[in-house]
Parts: sequence; structure tokens; C-alpha cells
Amino acid sequence: MEFRFTDPASDFSDGLAVLSAYHQSLLAQGKQLLLLADDIVAGEMQEALANRCIAMHCYYFHANRLHHLDEERGLFPLLLDGEQLIIGMMDLLVQDHQDIEEDWEALSRLLGSPRNITDAQEFQRLAAVFEKKQREHLLREEEDFLPRVATLLSAEQKAQAGASMVRLRNQKQVGLASA
Ligand SMILES: [Fe+2]
Ligand SMILES: [Fe+2]
Repeated sequence: MEFRFTDPASDFSDGLAVLSAYHQSLLAQGKQLLLLADDIVAGEMQEALANRCIAMHCYYFHANRLHHLDEERGLFPLLLDGEQLIIGMMDLLVQDHQDIEEDWEALSRLLGSPRNITDAQEFQRLAAVFEKKQREHLLREEEDFLPRVATLLSAEQKAQAGASMVRLRNQKQVGLASA
């Protein structure tokens, strides 16, 4: 069985639309992660469940890394000259990214090697911690941060952010080529 990452965004003409596409995709994936954890708690680890773990690991490995880079390298630099409120928000969002990546490290060791899931309850706990922090972060960006940013950037700057995100995907040295 082959596991491939499919980019949730297809139109890069507006960087903010790329970020929103990722937010929707990551929120949906979070629900799937919680369902997977429920299924693992409910029964023994079977091949189908193990494949779901590995497919989900593949998704998050690529999607989270790309998404954080899209924001930190593609969008945030365009806002550094702006109002203090936005700069403060970006500082908090970057801190969130680090926290999410730490939670992901703990979860990924199990999700990427499902035979290591010997304690289903512990897996479920790690999945719930990761999903909650990620969901709260995504909703804050989607409902609070991006609507403000949308009023601050020109159409050219939104296109510029999208072009940066395309360049990121072409940089093999950051390890973002598909698995
Ligand atoms: Fe973020
Ligand atoms: Fe985001």
C-alpha cells in the first residue's frame, strides 16, 4: 500500500485562500484522528487500522510542516511593518506552532509505527491533546487573525504570499517533496 500526500490547496493565486484551505482540511483531519483513536481503543490493532495510522501520519507530517512554513515564511514577513496588534498575534501563533509540533512529536512516534501502540488509552490521550491544541489554534487563525489580515494586505501582497508558498513546495532541500 502506498501513502501519498495530496496538497489540500490547488489554487495559489491568493495566499490567504491557501491557508484557509489548509485550515478546513486540518480541522476535518482532526475529527478523523479522534475517530481513529476511538477505533483503536475499541479493538485490537488490525492491518486496516494500522494503514489508517500510517496514512494519517503521512498527511500530518507533510501538511503541518508545510502549513507552518506557509504562514511563517509566506505570510508573516508581509505583516512585520504593520500594526503592533498583528505583530503580537503573530508572535503567539508562532509559539503555538512550536507547541503543536511538540505534541505532534509525541503522537507521531506511535502514529508512524502503529505496532508501537501498546497502550490504546495513552494513544487516545496523546491524540486528544494534539487535536485540541491544533483545533483551537486553527479556529483562532480562521476567525480572528485571517479576517484582520485580509483587510491589511493588497491583492498584490496576497498573490505574493501565494507565490512564496509555491516556491516552498519546489524546495526539495526542506524535505517537502512527497513521501
Ligand atoms: Fe498557524
Ligand atoms: Fe494556520
